[in-house]
Amino acid sequence: MIMWLNRFWLLSCVVVVHLSGRPVSGSGEFYTAGVAEFRPAVFGGSSEQLLEDNLNGYLELIAGANGTSDILVFPEATLNSVLQLTAVPEQTEHSLCEAHEGDDPRVAEFLRRLACAARDARTYLVVNVKERAEEHATASTDRGYNIYNTNVVFDRQGAVLSRYRKWNLYLEPLTNRTQTAELATFRTDFGVTFGHFICFDMLFYTPAQELVDRLGIRHVIVTKMFNSELPFLTASQLQQGWAWANNVTLLAAGASMPLAGISGSGIYDGQQGALTRIMVSHRAEGQRQLLLAQVPTDGSQGTSTPTEEEESPSTVQLKLLQQPDIGSFSTWALPLVNGSAASKRLCQADLCCDFQLSWNLLGAQAEYHYRLGVSVAERRYEQEQYSSIRVCGLFACRDDSLESCGLLSNQLEGHGGGVEFTSLRISGEFVKRPRRLLMPNTLTYGLYALQPSEVAWTMQEVPANDSHTHTQLELRQPQRQLLTFALYGNYFEEFASNGVAAVWRGMLTLCLLLAISMHLPILCNSF
Ligand SMILES: *[C@@H]1O[C@H](CO)[C@@H](O)[C@H](O)[C@H]1NC(C)=O
Ligand SMILES: *[C@@H]1O[C@H](CO)[C@@H](O)[C@H](O)[C@H]1NC(C)=O
Ligand SMILES: *[C@@H]1O[C@H](CO)[C@@H](O)[C@H](O)[C@H]1NC(C)=O
Ligand SMILES: *[C@@H]1O[C@H](CO)[C@@H](O)[C@H](O)[C@H]1NC(C)=O
Ligand SMILES: *[C@@H]1O[C@H](CO)[C@@H](O)[C@H](O)[C@H]1NC(C)=O
Repeated sequence: MIMWLNRFWLLSCVVVVHLSGRPVSGSGEFYTAGVAEFRPAVFGGSSEQLLEDNLNGYLELIAGANGTSDILVFPEATLNSVLQLTAVPEQTEHSLCEAHEGDDPRVAEFLRRLACAARDARTYLVVNVKERAEEHATASTDRGYNIYNTNVVFDRQGAVLSRYRKWNLYLEPLTNRTQTAELATFRTDFGVTFGHFICFDMLFYTPAQELVDRLGIRHVIVTKMFNSELPFLTASQLQQGWAWANNVTLLAAGASMPLAGISGSGIYDGQQGALTRIMVSHRAEGQRQLLLAQVPTDGSQGTSTPTEEEESPSTVQLKLLQQPDIGSFSTWALPLVNGSAASKRLCQADLCCDFQLSWNLLGAQAEYHYRLGVSVAERRYEQEQYSSIRVCGLFACRDDSLESCGLLSNQLEGHGGGVEFTSLRISGEFVKRPRRLLMPNTLTYGLYALQPSEVAWTMQEVPANDSHTHTQLELRQPQRQLLTFALYGNYFEEFASNGVAAVWRGMLTLCLLLAISMHLPILCNSF
């Protein structure tokens, strides 16, 4: 599988972002969090050797934090494979670091070593594993046990504090689902209660949005192996927009495999934006890097660590998907004329948006064409999964066709042939629903979202109108490297009615997908 990764798996790059002048953690106002962008070992050894390589990578990053962290998060599917399953207790009284009488013998050695690492570093630790659970046989095809895609949370002693089994599976034919979705939360000794989930969950109401809406969770952890999609769903872009829209803190740890389209980690502080983030987009090999930040426990200001966000003139190596339904948007193409301005109203179904903008050309030939667009649609992901979305936005296109929107330019970046948006404002009236998430959604050439200092986002009730919300997104300063500038609404419950049908359609295609899945683009996968 993915043979071209072979060349890169040996390349190792362990970088630890250093923080200087850090406030004392545990003071109540801040905690120190780390998220790992992590390249898993995929080839070049037996499953034992690959696990050992990954485990050593984890241990090195944990040790590299020097015992300064309060919580560390590692990504989805970057540790063990289905050939190296482990039992995961729901909770333990004692540290898993040493054996106790009555312990489950199926708890694997690597999990115990991670428990020891958590204890040695005196940190909470979140890892994602392939779990083997001995459970009641229900189906006739049963193999006698279930496999779950599972987050495990260790406390500072290495005891298991919380466990979460993934609900929204994505192309994981060997993996089982629990009977009902779990809402996993845990409380820490620094006074913060976290909720946690896995990758694809983020695009659905249960359990991700439910943790925020129903349980009032303000600090959220997600482990990911996420395949980025243009124009609206690249990894860090979605993470930052989700955290801003919910006004919550989000710790996101992502697997790092750019040639498979997978990268993206960060720590986002609600409406304050990203404290640290990474998208490995301009290089072929993934990274093993821990991003650390001082995260405020409540309303105080977080410490922004400048992460090197590469925007050098080179080609993007990250293999990006394109939104499959882009052709159904109602759009208007911007004329590439210097010193232009436009004021447009575009509608589709029950959504109308107003666009006001002005722009200059920076060179004779622009790298991108741009369109304004609006869409009310049931969109599909690569597998037969659907979401109902309402979107208004500006997005970049490779040429003057709508079908080229969401494709990167063939030209090298940064050659000065861009379009400078001197002003840009989008507003729309979005229909209200009980289960809805309206997100600011922006993206620049570096594949990062604009920070709140660069863009203003507001949402307000429409006077004398209780069926719609007015929302607006506006540039605070001219912007030369825009790929996307949009209002993205995920309407969760409108999809629910045909969700069951979609799941069954999905299962029917699984046999086919199993054979070829490694050659297909995937949005959230595990190896
Ligand atoms: C850990 O300690 C080493 C050696 O003292 C130092 O170079 C490094 O910056 C420290 N790392 C952090 C995250 O503080
Ligand atoms: C778990 O998944 C396997 C593989 O898809 C399936 O054969 C088995 O029946 C599932 N077990 C349960 C309890 O659903
Ligand atoms: C966002 O959360 C912070 C504290 O977590 C709070 O001070 C602020 O008022 C919230 N903003 C909105 C728009 O709810
Ligand atoms: C566009 O106009 C601005 C000022 O109006 C000028 O500085 C710039 O050189 C022009 N760009 C092109 C490509 O003609
Ligand atoms: C509320 O606003 C929407 C969108 O502008 C409009 O279509 C609808 O008619 C308004 N409803 C009322 C009661 O004014």
